This record gives sequence, C-alpha cells and structure tokens, in this order.
Amino acid sequence: MVEKSIAKQSSEKRLVQTLTTRKVTKTYGSAHAVDAVDLAVHSGEFLTLLGPSGSGKTTLLMMIAGFVQPTSGDILLGDAPITNLLPERRNFGMVFQGYALFPHLSVADNVAFPLKARGISRSESEARVRKALAQVQLEHLAERLPRQLSGGQQQRVALARAVVFSPDLLLLDEPLSALDKRLRNDLQEELKQLHRQVGKTFINVTHDQEEALTMSDRIAIMRDGAVVQVGSPKALYDRPASRFVADFLGKSNFLDCAVTGIDNDVIRCTLGGRDFFQLAPDDALAVGDSTLLALRPERIEVHAAAPEGQPNSLTGEVRSVSYTGVNFHVVVRTAEAGDIMLTTPTWRAQVAPEIGNRLWISWPTDAAVAVAND
Ligand SMILES: Nc1ncnc2c1ncn2[C@@H]1O[C@H](COP(=O)(O)OP(=O)(O)OP(=O)(O)O)[C@@H](O)[C@H]1O
Ligand SMILES: [Mg+2]
Repeated sequence: MVEKSIAKQSSEKRLVQTLTTRKVTKTYGSAHAVDAVDLAVHSGEFLTLLGPSGSGKTTLLMMIAGFVQPTSGDILLGDAPITNLLPERRNFGMVFQGYALFPHLSVADNVAFPLKARGISRSESEARVRKALAQVQLEHLAERLPRQLSGGQQQRVALARAVVFSPDLLLLDEPLSALDKRLRNDLQEELKQLHRQVGKTFINVTHDQEEALTMSDRIAIMRDGAVVQVGSPKALYDRPASRFVADFLGKSNFLDCAVTGIDNDVIRCTLGGRDFFQLAPDDALAVGDSTLLALRPERIEVHAAAPEGQPNSLTGEVRSVSYTGVNFHVVVRTAEAGDIMLTTPTWRAQVAPEIGNRLWISWPTDAAVAVAND
C-alpha cells in the first residue's frame, strides 16, 4: 500500500529523488551475480556502472528497473522502498542494447507509445513527441519506419521514447555499444546534452572506459558482483584504491615499495632496495609497511641526462617505442622496478627515443599512489 501511494506521488509531482540500493544481492544457485551492493545515485546525476563482462552491471540495472527481483536487500527512491514495486509503477525510462523499436510503427508512433500506455491525450502526446524528437534531432524523420533509419538514428528514437514521458530516472544498458566508434562518439555527445536538457538522473552501463570517463558525473566500478569504488572520473583516475581499478580505468605501472620514513608533507620509501623516493601523505601508511604504487605512464617525464635534485628518478634502457603522432609510448627497463611504460607528447621530446638508448625518468611526488594489491 505504502509503496503504491509513493509511486503515484512521484509520477505526479515528478520529484527526482536519490535512488539507494541497500545490500542488494542477486544469487543464481550458489553464484552471486550481484553481491551486497550499497549505492546512492543522486538526483540529476549521470552515474555510470563500469566493469568487465559478467561483473553484474545488467543484473543491478534490472533490479533497479524492477525486472529482476533481488534475492535480498532493498532499493529505495528517496525514503520509500520500491523493491516490490512493479516496473511500470517506478516511472523509469529504459534503453537497452539493440534498439527494440516496434517495426510496424512510425518513428512518431514509437515515441508516442509510452504516452498512449499512460492514457495521455492525443494533443498533449503530439506536443511531447515533437519535443522528444527535437531533443534527439529527429523531427524531420517522424513519419519513417524504423527499417528506413540508420543504426544511430534508431538508437536516438529509442532515447526519445525513453524520455518522452518525463521519467524520474533513465536506465541505459550499453545503448551505444552496437554502433561504430565515430557514431558512438557523436551519440555520447548527444546523450550528454539530453541529460543536461532533461535534468533527470541517468544510470548508464558500459564497458567502454573512455565513455565512462567523458560522460559521467560519477563512476561505480564493478567486479564480481560488487561495487569496488565509486567516485568522479578524476578521483578514480588519479586516486584508484586498488590495482584492479587502476588497471581497469586507464593504464598504470605498478611498483613495490617499502615505507622508510614519514615527514609532515611527504612519505619516504625505497624502491628495488634504493632509497630516495617520495609519496604524497597517505594516512593509511606507516613506517615499515610494504605497499604497491600505481604510476600513470603520462605522469612520467623523460630526460636525456640524470635530472638534478629529483627524488623520484630512475634510469634504464629503452626496450620499445611506438609513435602515434601525438605521443611516444616507450617501455624503459630499470634495475629497480623492471619495465616501466611511459607516454610522452612527441612535441616535447628533444630527441626521439630509440630502442637501446639510455634514458632517465622522473615523476612528481603526487603521481605515485599507494593501492591495494588485489
Ligand atoms: N538469469 C540468469 N541465470 C543465471 N546466471 C545469470 C543470469 N543472469 C546473469 N547471470 C550471471 O550473473 C553474472 C552477472 O551477469 P550480468 O549480465 O549482470 O553481467 P554484466 O556485467 O552485465 O556483463 P556484460 O558486460 O557481459 O553485459 C554473470 O556471471 C552471469 O552469467
Ligand atoms: Mg550486461
């Protein structure tokens, strides 16, 4: 009873509230598809679920949508539990991979479908369909059938159909993954614009890390059914909590180090038995600890001679070089830390790195981050 009245209220007033999952779990036999996920998706934010195949992204989204019943845990909209509410009473829009448009209906009739199902008058429906099609720049194709559209256009119709009834929340499961890269980039831009225009909460699933970084207010990284880290793209990229996150979002070098001293503004450590390295302050570290450091390739600077007064520097021999026009990707073999990958803009290289040459590398103190070795 309580759940029903809340659903009615939210669809009438169009309140966008925080969506919270509390220890949401889905098991199939003994396997945990989703394992005790606690997540709060704030009103109006664009949150991405990112993770490898089989990590539970779709299952979590389906539970939020109401198509899959959690084995345990709760889902709340604002303070109200919606765990047992039927999908059609949640007022969420959905877009899935593949377009799933009705083939015999025109573009306009496809978009009008959710309005018809909600008993909205014809004149209001027409106005809303026009607006939704304008939001995805398809007004001029309103009378076409889906098969007369390109893949990207069909996906935009699916988006228009998902926003036309002003849902409180939009759930997107890899809606762009079937498209080629160029078109995908265009549609990413459109999806962002649509998010700004409608001002509702979007939850997007992807395995494309670049899509996650460019589109999201926050990213939730999933692994084996669990959410392992949530944060802004920059926070996750610059301060990954674990090896898994550092590796999944971008590329990283991993270095073993031992903490030898802690001053106010810097942590001193050894690397490969050599002292002289520094980390930014980290409350989790104490003298005597061994830890793993993640170091992004683009934070590493290259020098033709030993840099003076630089705490974090190593020398080594160039093992491989690839040239991409914008960057050199170089692997340097060091005595202390093995092979280190680095990326350096071609315009900054005084001499093109060549296999067999000796180089010096260095990085700023805040570039190396202690991560859990998982
Ligand atoms: N109906 C089901 N019955 C049994 N196992 C299932 C079912 N649905 C999902 N699973 C399992 O749950 C796990 C999570 O699946 P899910 O589809 O949520 O992953 P995903 O992160 O969306 O993966 P992908 O990136 O490949 O789409 C997988 O191991 C999957 O095999
Ligand atoms: Mg999936």
